Amino acid sequence: MFIGTAVIYVIVGMIGGIMMGAKQDFTLAPAHAHLNLIGWVSLALMGFYYNANPAKAASRLALIQFWVSTIGLWIMIPGLVLTLKGLPPGERIVILGSLITLIGMVLFAVSIFRPVPSTR
Ligand code: HEM
Repeated sequence: MFIGTAVIYVIVGMIGGIMMGAKQDFTLAPAHAHLNLIGWVSLALMGFYYNANPAKAASRLALIQFWVSTIGLWIMIPGLVLTLKGLPPGERIVILGSLITLIGMVLFAVSIFRPVPSTR
């Protein structure tokens, strides 16, 4: 799920990058950067971690963490786009999305550091 969604985000991010270059309008560059770096790089890294640690991947925490990180990104990026376009509600949305994204990363840290659930 992590890697499958991450590759979709990077395709959308790359198309956005090409469109920015074609139009020579770089207003949305930070949204492009965050979609690629959180949506692609961070989520794919999480996916590789869970692939290497199947016991952790099978836990309920991993599923919760996936959705918290995903929902955070889905709120943060549109909020960032609105903010960069100067639309005031964007700032509140980007703050909310950022905090949810942070919670997602804290849950990932918990997932890493907590003991592996026993399979016996
Ligand atoms: C087809 C692929 C891509 C294209 C065409 C593209 C295009 C662009 C363009 C036009 C800019 C704005 C440059 C400027 O402001 O002068 C940019 C910025 C950036 N891109 Fe990409 N990009 C691509 C893929 C990626 C990927 C895969 C990542 C990260 C994993 C990435 C990360 C960034 C970052 C960090 C910035 C700087 C944003 C800022 O200055 O606020 N890009 N890209």
